[in-house]
Amino acid sequence: EQAGKGGYDHFMLKEIHEQPTSIAQALEGRVDPGAGEIALEGFEPGTFADVDHVQLVACGTSYHAAMYGAFALRQAGIHATTVLANEYSVAAPPIDEDTLVIAVTQSGETADTLNALRRATAGGARTLALTNVVGSTAARQADDALFIRAGPEIGVAATKTFSSQVVMLVLLAQRITEDRLGDPAADPDTLLPALSQTPGAIDDLLESSRAAAIADRFEDSQSYFFIGRGLGYPVALEGALKFKEITYEHAEGFASGELKHGPLALVTADTPVFAVFVGDEDEKTLKNAAEAQTRGAPVVAVCPEGHRATEVADAHLEIPDTDPDVAGLLANVQLQLVSYHAAAQLDRPIDKPRNLAKSVTVE
Ligand code: G6P
Repeated sequence: EQAGKGGYDHFMLKEIHEQPTSIAQALEGRVDPGAGEIALEGFEPGTFADVDHVQLVACGTSYHAAMYGAFALRQAGIHATTVLANEYSVAAPPIDEDTLVIAVTQSGETADTLNALRRATAGGARTLALTNVVGSTAARQADDALFIRAGPEIGVAATKTFSSQVVMLVLLAQRITEDRLGDPAADPDTLLPALSQTPGAIDDLLESSRAAAIADRFEDSQSYFFIGRGLGYPVALEGALKFKEITYEHAEGFASGELKHGPLALVTADTPVFAVFVGDEDEKTLKNAAEAQTRGAPVVAVCPEGHRATEVADAHLEIPDTDPDVAGLLANVQLQLVSYHAAAQLDRPIDKPRNLAKSVTVE
C-alpha cells in the first residue's frame, strides 16, 4: 500500500497532486484552443439540438460537480436543474423525450444514481452517464457515456474525480448550448486556453499553497463555514463536505447570500469563514464576508492576488487569475488542501474516514 502512495503520506494527497495530470487527460483530444473547438467523442455538433431541459442527478461530491454544470448551463440560458439522486424516486421532476438526464457518478455504481437513471429511462428521457469507470453499470445503462479519465481514485474522499467531472461538465455545457442556442456557453477564445492552462495553474498552486499554515492557524475552531456565490457556491459546499468527511469537525457550506437568512446566528470568533471568489458578483460575497467579520469571525479569502477581498480578509489562499468558469476548480484545490492538512494535524485516518464508503451500492 505504501508503494502505491508514490511517496505521499496518503492516497488523498497523492490524488490532489495528480490533478494536473488527470485534468490534462480529460482534455486530451477534446479541446483545441487554437481552433477554438471542442470535440466530445460520440457527440457530433448538433447532437443536443432537441434538448430543452437538462437534469443532472448525482450524490455526494458528484452532486456538487453536477451543480457546477447546471450553473454553467443556466448562466448560458439553458433550462438545467440538479436533483439529488436519492430524492429522485420521491419526486422526480417531469421529463419527456426532450429531457437530457445526466448521471454524474465517478464509480458508475452508486445505487441511488442508478435508480434515478432507470426512472429517467422509463420516463422516456435521453440519458447520459458521466463517469470514471468504463464498463460500469451507469455507463452500460445510459444511452450514452462520457468518461472523465481521472484514473483510479483510492481515497474515499473524492478529489481528482471532482475536478475532472467539472471540466467535462464545462465542456458539455459548451456543446449543449451551441447545439441548442447556436452559440457556446462561454467564449471559446477565452475558455479553452484557460482550460488548457489549468494543469499548469494547479501545479503552481500546489507548489505555493499556504493551506497547511491556514489549517494550523484555525485548528482550534468550533465550526468551519464555507461561502460562495454562483459557480463558487458548489465549491463552497464541496469544501465543507471534504472538511467534515476527513476531519470529523463541524463544517457547513452556504450560498453567500443565505448567510443573513439563518447561518449568521452560528457565526462567532470561533467559526472561520472561507469565502470563495470566482468572479460571480464578488462584491456581494465580499459584503457577506464582512457581515461575518463584524460578528468576530476570521475570514479566509480564496481569490486571486490583488483581489479586493485580500484587503479586508484576515487570511488569503491565492488562486491564479483565470476565466470565471475555471476559477472554481482552482479554489477547490486550495480547499482540498486545507481539509487534508487539518485532518493530518488531527491524525485522522484520511484515506478511510469512519462510517464512509468509496461507493455506496445500497439505497
Ligand atoms: C460516496 C463517496 C463520495 C461520493 C459519493 C457518490 O458517498 O464517499 O465521495 O461522492 O459516494 O459517488 P459516485 O461514485 O456516484 O460519484
